[in-house]
Parts: sequence; C-alpha cells; structure tokens
Amino acid sequence: MSNTRIYGNLINGEWRVSRDNPPIEVSSPVDGSLVGRLSSMSQEELDLAAASAKAAQKSWAAYPVYRKAELMYRAAQLLEERVEELSDCLTMEIAKDKKSAVSEIKRSADLLRYTADVGKSLQGEAIFGDSFPGGSRDKMSCVTRTPMGTVLAISPFNYPINLAISKIGPALMGGNTVILKPATQGAVSALKMVECMQQAGLPAGALNTVTGLGSVIGDAITGHKDVDFINFTGSTEVGEHISQLVSMTPVILELGGKDAAIVLPDADLDFAADNIVEGAYSYSGQRCTAVKRILVVDKVADALIEKLKARIESLKVGDPREEGVTVTPLVSEKSADFVESLMNRALKQGARLVTGGRREGNLIYPALLDRVTTDMDLAWVEPFGPVLPVVRVQSEDEAVEIANRSEYGLQSSVFTNNLNRAFSIAARLEVGTVQINNKPERGPDNFPFLGVKSSGMGTQGVRYSIESMTRPKAVTINLAGG
Ligand code: NAP
Ligand code: G3H
Repeated sequence: MSNTRIYGNLINGEWRVSRDNPPIEVSSPVDGSLVGRLSSMSQEELDLAAASAKAAQKSWAAYPVYRKAELMYRAAQLLEERVEELSDCLTMEIAKDKKSAVSEIKRSADLLRYTADVGKSLQGEAIFGDSFPGGSRDKMSCVTRTPMGTVLAISPFNYPINLAISKIGPALMGGNTVILKPATQGAVSALKMVECMQQAGLPAGALNTVTGLGSVIGDAITGHKDVDFINFTGSTEVGEHISQLVSMTPVILELGGKDAAIVLPDADLDFAADNIVEGAYSYSGQRCTAVKRILVVDKVADALIEKLKARIESLKVGDPREEGVTVTPLVSEKSADFVESLMNRALKQGARLVTGGRREGNLIYPALLDRVTTDMDLAWVEPFGPVLPVVRVQSEDEAVEIANRSEYGLQSSVFTNNLNRAFSIAARLEVGTVQINNKPERGPDNFPFLGVKSSGMGTQGVRYSIESMTRPKAVTINLAGG
C-alpha cells in the first residue's frame, strides 16, 4: 500500500513540512510503490535548521556527559522497539533483505550504547613540560577535548540508519549539535530513526534534519556559514566536490572502494570461496566494502572459480521480502544500467562469463567474470552491484602491484595459510585495513575504519569518530620559578 505521508524535518525540536517547494516522491525499488514524500527544503528552511543547531550547541555541550549517555541508551531501546517497522521500511525503500535490515537496526542500537560508554570514559590529560628534553618543570598543560560546533552528517543510501547513527552518536557525545542530510533514497527510514532520537528526549536543536536532492541543496548546506565540520559518506565524486567547495571546513570523507581479495596458492579455497561470495554479493554488492575484484594466483584459479560458481548459483535472488534472499533489485534503474554496461563492455573485450548476469528490471543475477584483464574498466571501476571480476596473476608480487594500482584504498583481503606472508603483504598494501583470511568489512564498530587515496580521509570507529569530531584544547599553566 502506498504511503502518501509527507515527511517533514526536525528543526529546533519540531517537525516541519516544507511549504515552499513541491515534495519529492520516494518510490520503492522493490515494486515501484510510494514509500513516502519528502520536503524539498528552500534556502530559508536550510538556514533555520543551521541556526537551530548553532543556537543549541553551547547548552548541549554543557549537558552532563552521563545525561547525554542516558539519551543514547534510551534512543537505542526505542530503535529496537521499532525494529519490525524500521526494517520493513528499509526493505521497501532500498530493497535491503529483511535479515540485513534487522541487523542494521540492532547494530545501530549497539553502536549508540557503546558510543555512550566510550563518551563517558573519555578523560582529559595533564602534560608536564619537563617530560620534553629541555622543557621546564614550571609548565603544565591541561588538555581537554572541545566540540567542533555544528556537524553536518551526510549519509548514503545503502545504510540509511547505521551510517547516520555512526555519525550522529559520536558527534553528540562529543558535544556537537548535528544537522543530518540523509540520502534521498533512504530518507524515510532515516527520519524514522531520527524520531526515535527525538523521543528519547534530545533537547531542541541538538539534532536537526534537512532533506532535498543533494544536487539541489548540497552546495547550500555544505557551504553554510554555520556548519563547522562535515562528516560525509558516499561516492568519491560527491566527496571530492564537497572537499573542493568547502576548503577550510574540516571533513571526514568515507568514499568508494575497489576492495581486492588476494588468493594465494596455499589458501583454504573452500574458506576463501565462502568469504568472497558473502563479501561480494550481500546486499547485491551495494557496500563500500564489498569484494570488488579477485586477484588469484593462476595455478589455483580454476579450482577457486569452480567453488565460487557453485556457491553463487545457490544464492537466492529476488524479492527482499522473501526469506533467505541475498541478491535483490538494485536501488535504481540508473545503477542497474551502469552495472550492466560495465559487465557487457568487459565481455565484449574478451572476459568470460562464468555465471549470472541476467537482468530483470533492476535485478541483476550475481555474475562472475573470469579472465578480466587490466585494460578493462571492470578491473578498476566500482560497479556497486553484483558483478565480480577475476584477474589472474602469476605471483603474490603481481597481486600486490595490481591491488595498489587502483585509485581506491579502502580495504583488501589476503587469503593464505602463511601468516608471515600475510603480514608482509599487508605491510605493502595501500589501504586503510587489511583483512587476513576474511572478507573486507567495516567493524566491529569500535575498530578504526578509514580509506586512503580516493577512498577518503579521516578515521571513523566509535572512539576515533568522537576524536575526529572534537579537537584538543590546551590550557597551559606557567608557574613562577619552581
Ligand atoms: P552519493 O550519490 O555520493 O550520495 C551520498 C550522499 O551525498 C547522499 O545523501 C546524497 O544526497 C548526497 N549528495 C549528493 N550530491 C551532493 C552534493 N553536491 N553536496 C552534498 N551532498 C550531496 O552516494 P550513494 O549513491 O548514496 O552511495 C554509494 C557510494 O557511496 C559508493 O561509491 C560507495 O562506495 C560509497 N560508500 C562509501 C562508504 C564508506 O564508508 N567508505 C560507505 C557507504 C557508501 P541525494 O541522495 O539527495 O543525492
Ligand atoms: O557501504 C559501506 C559500509 O561502510 C560497509 O559496511 O562492511 O558493515 O557492510 P559493512
């Protein structure tokens, strides 16, 4: 059944529907039904949201930390109480399978509780001058962390709740106020999550939201004079645009990836195949950390491909509302067109289709392409869909060289039973995280999560996120003649 409700924005503690522009319709990639309608905010309304965050920041920062933590716990509980409704919304809005949708919500509740605990335990420190060679004993610095001010959190479509919460929670615990700009596809789910945060008792202005197409309101909100910090997750293209536009505003950018799974001859191939298939095709490959290429040493390539093929063909494909489905329709027709054309170009250039690739609407059957070579776009471009290229290599050195030739540097996996070799390869890979004998993945959420090169800048992960969105403040005491 269609939901014709217009979702307003939370500004200064009240939900306001935009009166200035016609609403944006969000339709389901599952069946085309209307998921909801969103406010397309005007400049004046964006100004109100920014002013609300700015006005509330000092009093929110002064809130006792244990009270901030209590609010996080309460919001976590409210999220869990609404898990059925929220997961159904995710399923219809972004075609996420029900199991992954439920897991996204539970993970977000856990993250809020953990963030509250970390936030409570953060202490300042005292530094003594004489601990530095030549430093004076008469000097002592009290170092505390102060908030950045107003954080603009911009989240992508693929984790509308979790990739918003993972910014909002640490920003708030650090004493910042927040403006959330959710992805348009995903905004209905994100706004329901924000309802939980508000119902938990956040004071007016601590958390505000803005909606509208990024291409329309993006520059106005990222370049807004009242935004002090931007925490963005999304494509490299938009991330680069933002960083060029804002120049002096500090940013965290979590961007695209082309994570490689390097498979060495001594690897347990069944184990590697299980991990690669889960890593590449869960949520139809629409994860920044999906396995996006396999670099396998030629002498075990045939054996690995046979194992992958069997596993891929047993994946359940179709409607995300059905039990056990892994591969679901892509988020938009445009995405499906892009993935299909990338795959077809590689096939025309001589890659071999091992399995999959059939298209029905936005649904693409999980595809594996062998004999992809480095002159094909598929070896380098992020498809954000269920298409996985196999690039055969002659040695581990060649695997490392091709892995590092990518513009991206999010994560890499190495499958081998030789831990010494794994560490030596890990040291040479130009990525934020190397996974030894595991698929790439963000988390556990207290681990550092970062991309290098075109995969981003700055570090997330509960404590790292709080530290990134606060700055040290030093007050130095100078005693006379000690
Ligand atoms: P996207 O198109 O870059 O959109 C991300 C967010 O930016 C959305 O909220 C979007 O709003 C907004 N936006 C668009 N143009 C903007 C502008 N000019 N100024 C400010 N904001 C703007 O990315 P996506 O399609 O949602 O997500 C897929 C991409 O994100 C992939 O490349 C994936 O690898 C990457 N990703 C990276 C990570 C990571 O942690 N490294 C995690 C998840 C996803 P609208 O929706 O209104 O356009
Ligand atoms: O899409 C990008 C997310 O940060 C990936 O998170 O590895 O938990 O799926 P995940």
